Amino acid sequence: MNSKQNPANATPRIIVVGNEKGGSGKSTTAMHIAVSMLRDGVRVACIDLDQRQGTISRYFENREAYAMRNSLELPSPKMVKIEQLGDGENDDVIDKHIHQAIETVSGKVGLVIIDAPGSDNKISRGAHSFADILLTPLNDSFIDLDVLARVNSETGKVERPSHYAEMVWKQKLRRAARDGGSIDWVVMRNRLGHTEAQNKKKVEAALTELSSRIGFRQVMGLSERVIFRELFLQGLTLMDIVEIKKGNLAISHIAARNEVRTLMEAINV
Ligand SMILES: Nc1ncnc2c1ncn2[C@@H]1O[C@H](COP(=O)(O)OP(=O)(O)OP(=O)(O)O)[C@@H](O)[C@H]1O
Ligand SMILES: [Mg+2]
Repeated sequence: MNSKQNPANATPRIIVVGNEKGGSGKSTTAMHIAVSMLRDGVRVACIDLDQRQGTISRYFENREAYAMRNSLELPSPKMVKIEQLGDGENDDVIDKHIHQAIETVSGKVGLVIIDAPGSDNKISRGAHSFADILLTPLNDSFIDLDVLARVNSETGKVERPSHYAEMVWKQKLRRAARDGGSIDWVVMRNRLGHTEAQNKKKVEAALTELSSRIGFRQVMGLSERVIFRELFLQGLTLMDIVEIKKGNLAISHIAARNEVRTLMEAINV
């Protein structure tokens, strides 16, 4: 059996893709992880917590439609619906609600991917506390870094953790209190440019300092590529590249697909 497959009765691994900053690449990354794992033979479920935009749900609808139109078999995850609860609900009710959603696929899939919204709400906070892996994509700029830490504008030094980092810390405590488990927090640098060497170095230095202070691993993510913007309507990922280009692969596509593979290894699901 593939070592990444879980036995049918095992509790699935849970990846939450989260960052309060909008547009950092959460849904794009979640789709790529889902399809990579499906293509490795792992059964995957997705929970779309961003019901306002519903990006990942729409994406997999587009995928189904594309597969039908082109008579293709494209692996897709099981989508799990979750009702939003008001921010007035207490934490126990929220936890039970998320737990029930996960239970519906427990024993049926090896991995659950939760795509969190780019804003703060109680159910998203609660979902973070269920993560085995919390993956936080971050655009490679100080604007995005600001949700993790206040950085001194003159020295470039980290002054203190910001609101999202504090929220993650609280969810780590909640998780430990609930079942003694821990959250492996992985910060992924997204939309890496090829030209901004100076900015890259500064962001990397700040993240390296911060990673030991607030407890995350830093991984290199995806380069800035136009293709990520184009794939949405077809519901395809770079891992479906053979279907996209009908076997006629450009070097840039192969490089992009390798980047996703390297990312998957670094996350170590
Ligand atoms: N590596 C990349 N290169 C180019 N474009 C990218 C890359 N990653 C994401 N994008 C684009 O950035 C935009 C935001 O991406 P995405 O929707 O995945 O972010 P998000 O964090 O889920 O946003 P939200 O917070 O609104 O849910 C999309 O147009 C997407 O195609
Ligand atoms: Mg999104």
